[in-house]
Amino acid sequence: MRSWLCCAVLLAASSTQALAQTGSGIDASSDADRRAATTEAEMTNAERVGMLNGILAMPLGDTKIPEGAPLGAGYIPGVPRLDVPALTETDASLGVSYLGGLRGDGATALPSGMAMGSTWSPELMRAGGALIASEAHAKGFNVLLAGGINLVRDPRGGRVFEYLGEDPLHSGLLGGAAVAGIQSQNVISTIKHFALNPTEIGRQFHNGILEESALRMSDLLAFEIAIEQGQPGSVMCAYNKVNGAQACGNDRLLNGILKKDWGYKGWVMSDWGSVRATDFALAGLDQQSGSQLDAAVHFGAPLLDAANSDKRYRTRVADMSRRILRSIYAVGVDKNPPRKAAIDVAAGAAVAQDIAEKGIVLLQNRDAILPLAASAKKILVVGGYADAGVLSGAGSSQAQGQGGPAVSLPTMKDGLFTALMAQNYHRSAPLDAIRARAPQAEVSFRDGRYPAEAALAAKHADLVIVFGTQWLTEGLDVPDLSLPQGQDDVIAAVAKANPKTIVVLETGGPVAMPWQSDVAAIVEAWYPGARGGEAIAAVLFGDVNPSGRLPVTFPASVAQLPRPDLPGAETVEPSFAGHGKPGQTLDIDYNVEGADVGYRWFARKAEKPLYPFGFGLSYTSFERSGLSVTSGAAPAATFTLRNSGARGGADIGQVYLVETPRGKTRRLVAFARAELKPGEARTIEVPIDPRLLADWTPKGWSIAPGTYRFALGASSEELLEDVSVPIAGRTWNYAK
Ligand code: BGC
Repeated sequence: MRSWLCCAVLLAASSTQALAQTGSGIDASSDADRRAATTEAEMTNAERVGMLNGILAMPLGDTKIPEGAPLGAGYIPGVPRLDVPALTETDASLGVSYLGGLRGDGATALPSGMAMGSTWSPELMRAGGALIASEAHAKGFNVLLAGGINLVRDPRGGRVFEYLGEDPLHSGLLGGAAVAGIQSQNVISTIKHFALNPTEIGRQFHNGILEESALRMSDLLAFEIAIEQGQPGSVMCAYNKVNGAQACGNDRLLNGILKKDWGYKGWVMSDWGSVRATDFALAGLDQQSGSQLDAAVHFGAPLLDAANSDKRYRTRVADMSRRILRSIYAVGVDKNPPRKAAIDVAAGAAVAQDIAEKGIVLLQNRDAILPLAASAKKILVVGGYADAGVLSGAGSSQAQGQGGPAVSLPTMKDGLFTALMAQNYHRSAPLDAIRARAPQAEVSFRDGRYPAEAALAAKHADLVIVFGTQWLTEGLDVPDLSLPQGQDDVIAAVAKANPKTIVVLETGGPVAMPWQSDVAAIVEAWYPGARGGEAIAAVLFGDVNPSGRLPVTFPASVAQLPRPDLPGAETVEPSFAGHGKPGQTLDIDYNVEGADVGYRWFARKAEKPLYPFGFGLSYTSFERSGLSVTSGAAPAATFTLRNSGARGGADIGQVYLVETPRGKTRRLVAFARAELKPGEARTIEVPIDPRLLADWTPKGWSIAPGTYRFALGASSEELLEDVSVPIAGRTWNYAK
């Protein structure tokens, strides 16, 4: 009883046929438009409005869950007389959410967004999306609240682990591929949270301030690219304000940019509990989600009254319902309705493990201590609950396998938010996987509570594998980048006792590493998902050659960030709901960095990070060469990657724009992941999106005529050869 209430209130508080192979994942034909118009024309206003608000489908207060509706994040009734299906919604990007066990089932937990972002692989994103959507379908859902692609503007953001990185091209291509994979299963995907929602502090009222040209070139560009690639059926607007107006009632953002400029044809759903008034409909919002969480069902009776008496609302209500119908038809939700079935746990685990193995980033490897030699006789494993499982992030995105977490540590006294605000570990113990790979060795474990105890054991070991964890959750940011509860001290003590110390990090995002120079190796495993323990061991022992590259900059310290002091830290009480005191406001000025998010900020300030964007080591070596760039209407970059070492492995070719006629810059304009056998070379051509050469101006995208310099990079900081190319100027916008 308490467990469902917990989750329900937690959220309350917070809260076709084969689809075209164009990368869109959606039926791009006009058939969906025609069918939507025909069905909508047959509807009464009451039926239309019935589709425009939904409940949080959990037994919350006096909520009545309609018969047959699966417990999940949302339910919107259909119109049976017109064969319009009900919408059954579940979270999220990392798998079908567990809801603290409320539904009594488990699902495949994919690795975190950061881990997926580290693969730099749209193909893996697509496979992961298809997998979790097939599980959603088998659990009765036809909408997956996935596609989290907010750019990481601050590594302390509580939901960094859900997102893919700090670069708009990278997040846009990867996020769009995930959406396409989801929709290939006839399950509608969202893309979220639109827009400018990088931190959680005061999330219901903080006001992100950013001048429009910078917004268009950064956070919005990620959405724009992802929408083009994935054609998501729905866009979820964010909790926060953008330039003074609530994101879900933001005329400029929803009507002006999304629908008019970008020509978006799907529907905008609100985040849960973010609708303040019926006139949000006029600003471009199409559907109120989880309506019990708002002060009123603004998109219920008041909207019906307005539609019956006011032409503006009548027109909007028709458009709002047509948009939802269009996505239902375009994604094929009506043709292949969800069917309850058992999920294939082993197949899901294989996909999760594959992504984890390709997303783990090797950050340091002194004297090639990794991969581990079979000769080590005494291995000590320390900390991180490595004897039980691997960490996951918390909040609405939390997925867990059957039977729930291996370990669940409450972060608060028994109460309303306990289950979803717990630190949960998936049932995949690194210690077991290490033991399985080192049968000749004595592998012992210390929990890492006391630095002295761990150090004593370390002295007598041949080598030490110490785990460092940083738990992140929706709803709360972290105050700094330390590993909490004294773990930095444990690592330092162990490293002092034994120089053969290997640190394995399971962190939500970037962390500081005060012990960096004292340890032999550092492996960033993020939250590695359902088979994370096996993936970590596979990398440590060399069954898998690490190929992940950082999708975010690791700062040397928070002093290097655009806002060293977290805005609101002193005035806003940390709370999952983030409503604050009545009338409370918090302006966050993103004009400090503008469009120069992450590595671009570091390049602009000439700051040296701890580890740069794009960085990652391998057990083999690569040569990157032969960069050329063609200009013209369809610019492209060509380069050659060669595996110059003795082991098979994957490299990620990265091309950065480093100078334009407007001055020095740093912008990822092309990337490609290549699996290469020893000695193998591959020449790859990647198109360059002209928006990445342009600035957004009052007249639209504008490329200044002149010379552009591009560099092939091993990371955003390690630039290899460069080429200069003349590019003709042009300006274009969205006028039809
Ligand atoms: C989150 C969304 C989520 C929704 C439904 C909100 O609190 O911000 O990402 O999809 O809840 O659970």
